[in-house]
Amino acid sequence: MQEQISPARSVSGAVQLPGDKSISHRYAMLAAIANGDSKIRNYSTGADCHSTLACVRALGIVIDESNDEVIIHGRGAEGLRAPASDLDAGNSGSTIRMLSGILAAQKFDSRIGGDESLSRRPMARIIKPLEQMGALIEARDGTYPPLTIHGRALHPIEYSLPMASAQVKTCVLFGGLYAQGDTIVHEPLRTRDHSELALREFGADIDVQGLTIKLHGPARLEGRNLQVPGDLSSAAFFLVAALIVSESNLVVQGVGLNPTRTALLDFLAGMGAEVKILEIKQSGGELIGDILIRKSPIRGGVLEKAQTAALIDEIPVLAILGAASEDGLIVRDAAELRVKETDRIATIAENCRRMGVSIDVREDGFEIPGKQRFHAAELDSFGDHRIAMAFSVAALTADGPCTIANADAASVSFPEFFETLRRIAE
Ligand code: S3P
Repeated sequence: MQEQISPARSVSGAVQLPGDKSISHRYAMLAAIANGDSKIRNYSTGADCHSTLACVRALGIVIDESNDEVIIHGRGAEGLRAPASDLDAGNSGSTIRMLSGILAAQKFDSRIGGDESLSRRPMARIIKPLEQMGALIEARDGTYPPLTIHGRALHPIEYSLPMASAQVKTCVLFGGLYAQGDTIVHEPLRTRDHSELALREFGADIDVQGLTIKLHGPARLEGRNLQVPGDLSSAAFFLVAALIVSESNLVVQGVGLNPTRTALLDFLAGMGAEVKILEIKQSGGELIGDILIRKSPIRGGVLEKAQTAALIDEIPVLAILGAASEDGLIVRDAAELRVKETDRIATIAENCRRMGVSIDVREDGFEIPGKQRFHAAELDSFGDHRIAMAFSVAALTADGPCTIANADAASVSFPEFFETLRRIAE
C-alpha cells in the first residue's frame, strides 16, 4: 500500500497512542503462564503484539479480545500445550526471542519462525544462553529462524550479555522462571527494564542490583489486571514532527515514562526542544504521563555509547530531526541498526538520498549535516515500520507531496499512524 503525505504548516492538538509494544508482549507471555485470568487494558494494536497473542493461542491459551481490553486465561507454568503447527512470529523479533525462553523449558518440542525480514535476523544471541541452560535448539546456519526448539528441564545460569539487548535479557529470565535456583544476568549497559517490572508485578522473586538481575526459580505467577501505557517510541514520530513543522504545539497523552526509555526526552531537550511532562501516575510499576511539546529551535547532537543503545528504536526519526537541525546529528556505536527489521542505516540513507538530503554513512552509524531541505520524493518503507513513519515525518516539511511505498508496514507497531498524523497535521 502506498501513502501520500502533503507538506504541513502545523502539527497541533492532542494524541493518544496504542499501548507500548515492549510492555504488551511481556504482559501477554507472562499472563499465559500465570495462574488465572489477566485483564490487560490498552494492549498494543500493532501486528507484532498480535503475533504474540496468536502464538500464545496456538499454545492452548484462551484469549478474549474486546475494544480496549485483552483477557488472557492463564493456565500456570505447566499449562501450555504442544502447538499443532509452526508458531508464526510474523515480523516480530521480540516475539521469537522472548517466547523462545519459555518454549525452551516446555515438555514438548516446537518450531517458531516468521516473515522474510525475521528469517534474516540473528538468533544465536538467544540460542547460546538457552543451550547453556540445557535447551536444544536448531536454526538455519546456527542462527536464522525458523527455530526448532526441543524443550528440556532448564537449569539456572549466570550470564553476561555480550550486547545491550533487552530481548536477550528477557529470554534468559523467562527461561529462568522454569529453572531451579538463581538465574543471574549481567548487562553491559542498562536496557529497558519492562521485564523486571512485569515479572515482579506477576509475583516472581526478582532482585535488581545495578546491572545485575537475579531471578529465583521456579516461579509461580498470578494473573493480574494491568494497563499498558502509550508507546513512547511511537510518540517519538509526533514529537519530532512538532519540533520541525512551524507553528506546532502538541500534547501526547498517557505515554509510558519508564526511566529506561525516556533518554529520548533528555536528548530532545539537550538539542533545544521545549518539552514538558505533566500528570505522572503509576501502573504495574510503570510510569505514565502527558508530554507537551512545541516547535523549538533545534541545535544538533551526537549520539553514542549508552545513549545510542537507549535510543536505538528512535534513531530513524532522530535522523530526520538531525537534517532539520542547525548543526546536524552524528550517530556512533549503532551497529545493531544493521540487524533490525531492515538494515536501518541503509534504508535511512536510501530515503535521504531520494529526498536530496546528504548523509555520510559509516559501518556503525552515520552523520547528517544540519540546515537541510527535504525535497518531494517517492519514498519506500522497505517493509520497516519505523522507516515508514520516520519518512512520513520528513515528508511533512518537504517542498511538495511525497509518496511512501509499502507504508502499511507501519501497522506492525502503529496501525492508526497515518490516520492520527492526518488529524493533527494541517
Ligand atoms: C525491545 C528491545 C530492543 C528494541 C526492540 C524492542 C524489547 O531490541 O529495539 O524494538 O522490547 O525488549 P534489542 O533487544 O534487540 O536491543
